[in-house]
Amino acid sequence: MSKETKYLLSESDIPKAWYNINADMPIDPGETAWNAVLDPATQKPLTPDALSAIFPKRFVELTASTDRWVEIPEPVIDVYKLWRPTPLIRARRLEKALDTPAHIYYKYEGVSPVGSHKPNTAVPEAFYAKDEGATGMITLTGAGQWGSALAMACRFFDLECHVYMVRVSYYQKPYRRILMESFGATVLPSPSDTTEYGRKLLAEDPDHPGSLGIAASEIVEAAATLAGKLKFGAGALLGPVLMHQTVIGLEALQQFELAGEYPDVVIACNGAGSNFGGFAFPFLHQNFTAGKNTRAIAVEPMACPSLTKGKYTFDCADAANTWPLMKMHTLGHSFVPAGIHAGGLRYHGMAPHVSALYDHGDIEAVAVHQRPTFDAAIQFAGEEGILPAPESAHAVKVAIDEALRCKEAGEAKVIAFNLSGHGHYDLGAYDAYLKNELEDYEYPDEAVQEALSQVPEVALG
Ligand SMILES: Cc1ncc(COP(=O)(O)O)c(C=O)c1O
Repeated sequence: MSKETKYLLSESDIPKAWYNINADMPIDPGETAWNAVLDPATQKPLTPDALSAIFPKRFVELTASTDRWVEIPEPVIDVYKLWRPTPLIRARRLEKALDTPAHIYYKYEGVSPVGSHKPNTAVPEAFYAKDEGATGMITLTGAGQWGSALAMACRFFDLECHVYMVRVSYYQKPYRRILMESFGATVLPSPSDTTEYGRKLLAEDPDHPGSLGIAASEIVEAAATLAGKLKFGAGALLGPVLMHQTVIGLEALQQFELAGEYPDVVIACNGAGSNFGGFAFPFLHQNFTAGKNTRAIAVEPMACPSLTKGKYTFDCADAANTWPLMKMHTLGHSFVPAGIHAGGLRYHGMAPHVSALYDHGDIEAVAVHQRPTFDAAIQFAGEEGILPAPESAHAVKVAIDEALRCKEAGEAKVIAFNLSGHGHYDLGAYDAYLKNELEDYEYPDEAVQEALSQVPEVALG
């Protein structure tokens, strides 16, 4: 076993292909329809042509691809070289502070120019859009991590970028808006007064906090009125996005070889699946094909517990029932989660791949409260020096819990988590925490039951 603290790779070690878990999903699509994408009006599968009106064609092709390895285009690798490979770091100081026999490692995606894992998919999506003649992209963002990644990628490929930012985050995190605007993006708070749906919601509640589902509905309406050929930039949820993110886990596998260890458990926070998928799927590939037995834990907020408390059923990806229906763990598309600071985890649904794997028992999920999550983030920062993004702090919390369990049991397990981003634009959240102003929100049962009652009934066949 190596005595190093940081495991670094060179540019030539950046993976040449993404891992496509479609090739290895242990769940029969015929029986479960886990991969169906249905038109909400007819409940029939959407054709590739219909999907290509929204997404780049290459993105649509990849949705259905079952090739295990998908070559990364050279122009994408060239941009990845700005920050990839990212380091794998052994948290030796944290281990010591916890007095645990466990070995804790974290992969640090906060070294990307905008501070999170999100550019791993923003760059290929913008590349496909440009390659196919689009003039710009439109998207929604929670805390602004995804929006700033897409704004940067659009700037690199000379595309316009329109971002609808969830209203509560727009005001909580003005610096992310400024970052997006610095890359030339247009940013609006959602609900906004630029769409009929947004105006209706604002009339009902002028302080409406918004949600990712609502922003998704608004951009459909907005895209129709904006001039130019716009493609939708997907920050999570869909198969190709999860696949683009697998550069994280693929690099980590190489780095564990350098470390001379292999993780017993991999942990990642989970908003709509891409961070978790990107880190965990390459390890699941080893489980499925190479006899490994790594546990994979997805961590979500107690205020928005789609895997642990949602229903596994068809639901729409947006609040107004205009986006396709997919099979997922959902809290109901009209569910508006409390305005917690981990804005990127406030989504009613979950990626179909992650949902299917959870339902099938291949992965685990845990929900944690906001305050103990910030306790863990502060402890981590005090030992390792990095202030995590509030989303990433969810993984830190569960990694620390696992390490403390190892201490009790006297087990020297290898724990790895993805530190998906830094929290340098989230200092308002830390300020609230330090002033003891953060509240824990348990998801309100009645609200979820109400939202679940509006989930569409889908009869397949
Ligand atoms: C830093 C960070 N980590 C994790 C997530 C969750 O990502 P995903 O929706 O892909 O699960 C987000 C979402 O915005 C984020 O900003």
